[in-house]
Amino acid sequence: MNTIFKLGACAFALVAVACSKPQSGANAEIESNIDALLSQMTLDEKIGQLNQVSSYGSVEAMADEVRAGRIGSILNEIEPANVNRLQRIAMEESRLGIPLLIARDVIHGFKTIFPIPLGQAATFDPEIVREGARVAAAEASAAGVRWTFSPMLDVARDARWGRVAEGNGEDPYLTSVMGVAMVRGYQGDTLGNPASIAACAKHFVGYGAAESGKDYNSTNIPPAQLHNVYLPPFEAAAAAGAQTIMSSFNDNDGVPATGNRALLTDILRGEWGFDGFVVTDWNSAGEMLSHGFCADSAEVATKALNAGVDMDMMSFAFVKELPRLVKEGRVSEAQIDNAVRNILRVKYRLGLFDNPYVDESLRDSVFYAPSHLAAAKQAATESAVLLKNDNHVLPFGSNVKRIAVVGPMADAPHDQMGTWVFDGDKDKSITPLTALRERKGISINYAPGLAYSRDNNKAGIAQAVAAARQSDVVVAFVGEEAILSGEAHSLADISLKGAQRQLIADLSATGKPLVMVVMAGRPLTIADEVAKADAVLYMFHPGTMGGPAIADLLLGDANPSGKLPMTFPRMVGQVPIYYAHNNTGRPCYGSEALINDIPLEAGQTSLGNTSYHLDAGFDPLFPFGYGQSYTTFAYGEPHLSADHIAKDGKLTVDFDLTNTGDYEGAEVAQLYVRDLHGSLARPVKELKRFQRVNLKPGETQHVTFELPAEDLAFWNPEEKRHVEPGQFQLWVAGDSQSGQPIAFTIE
Ligand code: GLC
Repeated sequence: MNTIFKLGACAFALVAVACSKPQSGANAEIESNIDALLSQMTLDEKIGQLNQVSSYGSVEAMADEVRAGRIGSILNEIEPANVNRLQRIAMEESRLGIPLLIARDVIHGFKTIFPIPLGQAATFDPEIVREGARVAAAEASAAGVRWTFSPMLDVARDARWGRVAEGNGEDPYLTSVMGVAMVRGYQGDTLGNPASIAACAKHFVGYGAAESGKDYNSTNIPPAQLHNVYLPPFEAAAAAGAQTIMSSFNDNDGVPATGNRALLTDILRGEWGFDGFVVTDWNSAGEMLSHGFCADSAEVATKALNAGVDMDMMSFAFVKELPRLVKEGRVSEAQIDNAVRNILRVKYRLGLFDNPYVDESLRDSVFYAPSHLAAAKQAATESAVLLKNDNHVLPFGSNVKRIAVVGPMADAPHDQMGTWVFDGDKDKSITPLTALRERKGISINYAPGLAYSRDNNKAGIAQAVAAARQSDVVVAFVGEEAILSGEAHSLADISLKGAQRQLIADLSATGKPLVMVVMAGRPLTIADEVAKADAVLYMFHPGTMGGPAIADLLLGDANPSGKLPMTFPRMVGQVPIYYAHNNTGRPCYGSEALINDIPLEAGQTSLGNTSYHLDAGFDPLFPFGYGQSYTTFAYGEPHLSADHIAKDGKLTVDFDLTNTGDYEGAEVAQLYVRDLHGSLARPVKELKRFQRVNLKPGETQHVTFELPAEDLAFWNPEEKRHVEPGQFQLWVAGDSQSGQPIAFTIE
């Protein structure tokens, strides 16, 4: 079967033709409606549209502000009846009847919780990610929400940063493809559909490069890195029609994103033609005072508006300062008109002027719909990454009758949902313990050992060890409570917390086959625990249906297919660590001595003088793109359509992929490229295509990747984004460290 994958076309804005923008309504008609409305608005009413407030909790408390037209958007109001009351006040009691835009952080589901975005990235399946966003939109819009602050597109290469949980990992291409999938899922084919919600690509830009992984911290990203690593996912999302962009908290090289005109206007609108609107992050405008970038709130309002901010989330600088700033001629009403126009355009596209109301009867049939739960289970199943499986311990065969289920994450319905869960109900979350207990033919010996992931009370470990001794196999569910990742939750030490390491060591000492299932919001440093376990299944907080997914995987009703969206360090001191690094002038050759092998009184230059850590080496514990299966796959020799292509040409890469094992399974075939010499030092590899291929035992599929030379373009300060002729290599493999290079040239 010949399968041609042109998926990459979605990935970068330059060839985003495959991701046609959602039907956003008749633009000319919308623009004339905006003109007509603007001409009637007072300055205060215009400034009111630029003001976003978090629900005060009661309609009465907001009614006067809404009636006076001083609020354009409300976040965190998710009671349909309240939404309808607020909209009725806006539509019928305010002077001009401009609808409100209701927003919420719907990051990986609203009621039905999908795996955290980092887990969704591990599926390498944009279709399941799009479906998850569509489900989220259906549920959120049934509560009256028509705008989500998602997808989070911050490329992140530092697992100490708690918000790696919310993104798609370390790679710009994977982040772009998943970001486009989420935008399309949220916004659907028609923005005006009441079940569609506006997406918000955030946090623009570079927030994931926070110094030492400390959230909100400064970033120091130079222009080439900004254009080649951090901006592309946002460009792809904008090209796919994302209706809003959120400015980030960080100052980059001393300039806070919320006051950065080069970003919010020159690039976003000047280069990309973005025609939605820019919202600040929560009080990120006001935080320019703390940054020392503004001296007072008048300067905050001025710099934010001048930079290109349209809507102010929770700093109130716009409503407080703009009326006077216009009177004093320090900002122009035309600038405000422009911001209002951008906001009204999205409200028209969403159909809010025609119908801002939510059907209050919807939610009971929509929340946790069986099809939503099924999609969440599929996503959780596909997100699981099999890191180790010695002696085929997994999947458990019919010989396994007694399973010891231990660990603080075995029955943690709240924590398995992960970070950024406001509306998902823990009593709907099915844990591994519950799911395994429902299975026929096995008996479960449950002993948590520890009460929660940070628990240092070792008194329960003996019971867990006893349960292990009375069983055929042990499954230890460890990892992180949900609160240990996400916003403001960065860690300096990313090893297993509490007495979890002791628990694993004691279970290993029983000699029973030990399967470690990790549920976490980030890569953890688990080298010692991996060595002690016979098998390791890694889940990035799998959501509502994590339990049934894990039960299927352990018992062989499903086959793991996930791949790592982030590199796993051996030690936290290796961080930042990522596959698409530059070669440097002193690359590590792998033969260097490690600390315990260094002879006494070794000579100063005897260790090779290359780039590695004496106590960790150079390589990670597990590379980007890595993940095992219960079966095995063989890659045939890739065939190139040519060994040289023109700068405007296209390369086709064909290869056979065969399931050489005994289980049906999916393999994520990956295409990496290296630009050997350039006007800048280029990464040793960059992911340019991937595709999940489902294969039955013995089945072979012919796989084709199409790679336009344009996709190998990069940005440098002189020529900006361009394709450089030269020698390249490509790899087709199942992870970022495997495969053999094949040479080709761009002329
Ligand atoms: C938070 C987050 C942002 C979120 C916003 C609204 O501080 O940084 O991601 O969307 O505020 O809750």
